[in-house]
Amino acid sequence: MAKKVGKVTWPAYFRAAAGLRRLGGDSRPPRRSGGAESRGLVKKRDGRTSTEVSMSRMIILRGVSGSGKSTVAKEHAAEEMLLGGKAVICSADDYFIRLGSYKFDPRLLPEAHAWCRGKAVGALESEVDLVIIDNTNLCRWEFEPYEKMASDYGVECKILVVGEFDEKSIELYASRNQHGVPAEKIKQMAAKFQK
Ligand SMILES: Nc1ncnc2c1ncn2[C@@H]1O[C@H](COP(=O)(O)OP(=O)(O)OP(=O)(O)O)[C@@H](O)[C@H]1O
Ligand SMILES: [Mg+2]
Repeated sequence: MAKKVGKVTWPAYFRAAAGLRRLGGDSRPPRRSGGAESRGLVKKRDGRTSTEVSMSRMIILRGVSGSGKSTVAKEHAAEEMLLGGKAVICSADDYFIRLGSYKFDPRLLPEAHAWCRGKAVGALESEVDLVIIDNTNLCRWEFEPYEKMASDYGVECKILVVGEFDEKSIELYASRNQHGVPAEKIKQMAAKFQK
């Protein structure tokens, strides 16, 4: 259930990651009604007025490499756009795309994820209709910052687990993932998954 946006304290870390400055102390204005509501897609709940109900949503995807997270993310974004809304996909993988090609460097992972969190904050600040977090998010600590963001900004948050964790599925994901992640590594990822 979306909640009324009141006073929120946003950690300096995320403000810095997003390149944002504190807006008038820690208070934020109530969210404006979004595109989804103007399209008549969002019902008012409990008799509250539209200005009290957040219109944005966040989807946090979880799953091992090759399970289909980015595919699902694009499907959700396309659906949102077909309905006239705006969607932003936040993926730490995009940090490693330089001049059109993917160059993964594990040393840059913390910075890639900080960048991804910053992008999500920017999307929430811009009040896009749908923010999709497209990372493996295997451990709780990896996606909890996004849950907190969603809560702080008063947006609905849904977690979707993509794919399976059995041996046969892992073989399939190893054969099709676009980042060259081998089955052994995907097995290790699956073992890290926290329910
Ligand atoms: N349901 C599906 N059926 C068949 N192929 C799929 C399905 N979902 C995804 N794929 C294909 O599997 C490959 C990997 O999918 P995708 O890139 O979405 O995985 P991912 O979870 O984002 O992986 P990574 O974590 O490495 O980014 C892609 O080539 C995609 O087209
Ligand atoms: Mg992906």
